[in-house]
Amino acid sequence: MSAEATAEAAAETGRTGGLTFPQGFLWGTATASYQIEGAANEDGRGPSIWDTFSRTPGKVVGGHTGDIACDHYHRYRDDVAMMADLGVQAYRFSIAWPRIQPDGSGPVNPRGLDFYERLVDELHGRGITPIVTLYHWDLPQSLEDRGGWTDRETSERFAEYAAVVHGRLGDRVGTWTTLNEPWCSAFLGYGAGVHAPGRTDPADAYAAVHHLLLGHGLAAARLRAAGARQIGITLNLAPIGGGDPEAVAHVDGLQNRIFLDPVLRGEYPADVVERARRFTDWSFVRDGDLDVIGAPIDLLGVNYYSPTTVELRAGQEANPVHPGSEGIAFVQGDEEKTAMGWSVKPSALTELLLRLTRDYPGTPLIITENGAAFDDVLDGGRVADERRIAFLDGHFRAAHAAIEAGADLRGYLVWSLMDNFEWAEGYAKRFGLVHVDYASQRRVPKDSALWYREVIRRNGVQA
Ligand code: FCB
Repeated sequence: MSAEATAEAAAETGRTGGLTFPQGFLWGTATASYQIEGAANEDGRGPSIWDTFSRTPGKVVGGHTGDIACDHYHRYRDDVAMMADLGVQAYRFSIAWPRIQPDGSGPVNPRGLDFYERLVDELHGRGITPIVTLYHWDLPQSLEDRGGWTDRETSERFAEYAAVVHGRLGDRVGTWTTLNEPWCSAFLGYGAGVHAPGRTDPADAYAAVHHLLLGHGLAAARLRAAGARQIGITLNLAPIGGGDPEAVAHVDGLQNRIFLDPVLRGEYPADVVERARRFTDWSFVRDGDLDVIGAPIDLLGVNYYSPTTVELRAGQEANPVHPGSEGIAFVQGDEEKTAMGWSVKPSALTELLLRLTRDYPGTPLIITENGAAFDDVLDGGRVADERRIAFLDGHFRAAHAAIEAGADLRGYLVWSLMDNFEWAEGYAKRFGLVHVDYASQRRVPKDSALWYREVIRRNGVQA
């Protein structure tokens, strides 16, 4: 079957037959430090760019911050127990750099490392495999004050920090991902300014792309030298659809290939470099950088939420998150949307996984995030989130179709374990399998969590 036909076959909504995943397939959940931990000023944690950004009026819905969030810093034992109850096999979480090095460099704060060591030990005690993300967007503010990701120094500091964390946790964590979604860090944070640190210069966004990738490469090298078993990076990838090949190639370059090609082929795509010349001369790329960035990895983390559809349209202004996209319209049809306004299209996940298999062969894949926000209602102690169940069911089937067609997909981590601080959307958007009442910090597994427990138990979905 062709990739398109496979994707179409998986596109049928509504459940069909039961499906079983390969033996050893890893089912889990994902979170990130700033989104759940709270305890922003405890045990020596320094400020991050998200502390600063969320305190800047108008940047986050409702003026929300991560100061308390899900209070996971204090409740991690209960949260791990809750995961164990759900039968979760793997847990992807991120380390807050400002807990480890409050100023982003120099002295290490042992209490920060202690917390993650306790968390990892708790996970092992419950038979849950820890998957560590070293950077999920909470850059120490002092590093931003010195240039942030537009400065090459930050890449070096990141590698040092990675080595410090591995030094403490390396004997009990096997799987390491360097960065989460560098596209968001660079283009939302430095280009469009809708994420921290809120800068709005396309030249900065391109410099950030490179220094993030260099940081990945330098950190990966340190981890490798220290004996890390599995090293990867997580990218937010989306199939780009539409009838105009030129528009599709342009946006695919900016969204996908600008990260995939350097990491998996050791080069920036020529068309992307050319198109960006109006913003940057790329002089931040030095001899040898691409060898560092392109060193082999063991696992590619795929975050997939929604496809993108584009078409050429005369007079269209550039989309601020895609610098240089004048004349390209981002279009949506009347398909189902989540509470984020994101199109629901499971077949695009099959398409994406098969494209990675075809264009970047040889690197095992893991879905490090997939999930959806809906307007959940807690009613009588229950959240009947049928739409989330249908969403996950459709996407699990889509992943299965890709495996059948040859994708080397090793696991699936649902975003998110529990409702949390959804960046610029504050607490307004709920992605959790578990409902969080922020006033009482009470956790209630939604129907989707109970359904997911069955999926994990059966290693598959039911008819
Ligand atoms: C991704 C982020 C994650 C979460 C989901 C909804 O871009 O990595 O932290 O916010 O989106």
